[in-house]
Amino acid sequence: MPPETSTTESFVDNLVAQMTVDEKIGQLHQYFNFNDFDSDLIRQGRAGSVINAAGALGGQGQSASTSAETCNHIQRLAQESRLKIPQLFGRDVIHGYRTVFPINLGQAAAWNPELAEAAAAVAAREASADGIKWTFAPMLDIARDARWGRIAEGAGEDPFLGAAMARAVVRGFQGDDFSNPERLVACAKHYVGYGAAEGGRDYEGAELSEATLRDVYLPPFQAAVQAGVGSLMSGFLDLNGIPATANRRLLTEVLRGEWGFQGLVVSDWGSVQELIAHGIAEDDAQAAAIALHAGVDMDMVSGVYLNTLAGSLRAGRVSREEIDEAARRVLRVKHQAGLFASPFTDTARAAHDILRPEARALARQFARESIVLLKNAHGLLPLDGRYKRVAVVGPLVHAQAELLGTWAPDGRPEEVTPLSEALAQTAPQGLRLTFAEHADRAVLAAASAEVVVLVVGEHPARSGENANVADLGLPPGQAELVQAVAAQGKPVVLVVLAGRPLAIAREAALAGAVLYGWHPGTEGGAALGELLFGLTGDGQPAAPSGHLPVSLPRATGQAPLYYNHKSSGRPLAQPATVSGAFLSRYVDQPSTPLFPFGHGLTYTRFDYAHTQASAERLRDQIEISVEITNKGARAGLAVAQLYVRDLVGSLTRPVRELKGFARLALAPGETQRASFTLTAADLAFTRADGSRGAEPGRFLAWIGEDCLSGRAVEFEI
Ligand code: NOJ
Repeated sequence: MPPETSTTESFVDNLVAQMTVDEKIGQLHQYFNFNDFDSDLIRQGRAGSVINAAGALGGQGQSASTSAETCNHIQRLAQESRLKIPQLFGRDVIHGYRTVFPINLGQAAAWNPELAEAAAAVAAREASADGIKWTFAPMLDIARDARWGRIAEGAGEDPFLGAAMARAVVRGFQGDDFSNPERLVACAKHYVGYGAAEGGRDYEGAELSEATLRDVYLPPFQAAVQAGVGSLMSGFLDLNGIPATANRRLLTEVLRGEWGFQGLVVSDWGSVQELIAHGIAEDDAQAAAIALHAGVDMDMVSGVYLNTLAGSLRAGRVSREEIDEAARRVLRVKHQAGLFASPFTDTARAAHDILRPEARALARQFARESIVLLKNAHGLLPLDGRYKRVAVVGPLVHAQAELLGTWAPDGRPEEVTPLSEALAQTAPQGLRLTFAEHADRAVLAAASAEVVVLVVGEHPARSGENANVADLGLPPGQAELVQAVAAQGKPVVLVVLAGRPLAIAREAALAGAVLYGWHPGTEGGAALGELLFGLTGDGQPAAPSGHLPVSLPRATGQAPLYYNHKSSGRPLAQPATVSGAFLSRYVDQPSTPLFPFGHGLTYTRFDYAHTQASAERLRDQIEISVEITNKGARAGLAVAQLYVRDLVGSLTRPVRELKGFARLALAPGETQRASFTLTAADLAFTRADGSRGAEPGRFLAWIGEDCLSGRAVEFEI
């Protein structure tokens, strides 16, 4: 045991020995609202944590803000309690605090975990300056269904990319040691399977096989645990008939038993009491007992731990050991967070730690790297000296709040530079810009311009928690706008701002170029401007480098849509003996995505050649490599992606699985080799007998620009 750990353990042992049952139960209770709380409860030591959110949907728009002064005031009340146990202040710091970064799905599109780490570190510094010590992030839910609004909050559909982002964001929030006053305790959520909500309807249940759970949904959580995440949140959902907040096997046997997690588990908002609505508990007392027994240490806001556990202990429904253990986990995190040593926040910090120029610069870079160029026919972009009259039109041209994205309770719309203003600042000399927000003017402006930038998409309130859609098309009226603008016969650059992959097949066909910008945050307008003109604010070349972390559908009916699906007995790609009419497909649409997972263009093009495997057989390890050449006239960043397929398994295997990615900056004409090492552990999966490991046999590997490209090489284990 490292020395700090033993100090924490003896500290916690000593404290627990002095605590009354009510004080222990108090540590398991989280109440909400920093501004309206019961001071007596805190003075009595009967509340362990406070969450600052106006309601469960804290992410929808603005919610009451906080400050170091408010937190210090509450902390002083805690100091009046018998044992002076400090409060742990929680808030949803999801994709930035005051400096708002792209939504998490956009962050994943950058395929740049280091940048996500840096952004989380900025968010931690800003939030902690306002007294926050605990964030309910990262959200690690794999999302294969774009109808589900919370797809915006995660890293998309792939467990490998999801695990890489999980590690990075946990490191970013926590650093090496979250007792540092500028760091936060992170919370991996929503454990587990929440993204598989049936029909894409938030809070709905999911049925997942053990293999899919372990190979697809659990890996980002395990990665977060390995990265030392301090806490974890149990989800709202019913998974295979057991609500996640009641699932002892997953919360205790897997999480603690198999993975060795030592941190604290908090329920989601009210999800302990919701065990009654799920129909597995009769009343509050039973709900609390089930959740505690499953391994939920802290009850987020429902109050049922506070109100029933003491009675249940007397009645023998819960044990003293269970209560002690949960209290120890809460106290351990508080001790590790340095709260006993320094419970208060320096009130001078906010003035210099929030919205620093370098934070905005990072937000600009992240926004730039998150934006995906889906299409660029005839090199329409960047808009260089070829064009003198550019119309910038559409409902989001002057948007500010709409750029922030779903979880920006601390972002300020007035601090967002709207696209119109950013473009006016970055436009090359001699280029005339006209702006039009409303449809009729947009069409007129398009008619008299040489090229049109048409900005469409979703309001952030249309994604995020419980903001699901049954139609993945553009919001009402926008498809018509795209048609009317395109009918003017000018080349159209379509910019889509959205919290999810939308089905834009018709609109993309009408446009010469398509930039998918997600909700890009405080600096999103400026970043888009830089990419449209191909120049950063300080005159450096700028080019898109984002790649899709999700498959972009053609139609809503394709959901759920994900690249790492199983082959089926009648795969479309490899007709064997069955006639074409009886292969897996739709009769009215291709079954492929409009743009595949991993897709993203830039202002040059790359050639991938000479893919090689270092051996025919993987013994300890094998190298798969490819030569990448920049074939264009501009510098560019290639995101090389390694995929494998296990050809025969004891359980059916995905048609492709991402196993590595690398970012290579290439000057015009330059060639570099991208090389990836695979070991048997990288090819392990949940086998038919339930064990985990790789199976001997043949594998294919590709290195390409997306999940469909690359030349296959074969190897064996
Ligand atoms: C409910 C959401 O599901 C969760 O993600 C969030 O952290 C809590 N509300 C707290 O706001």
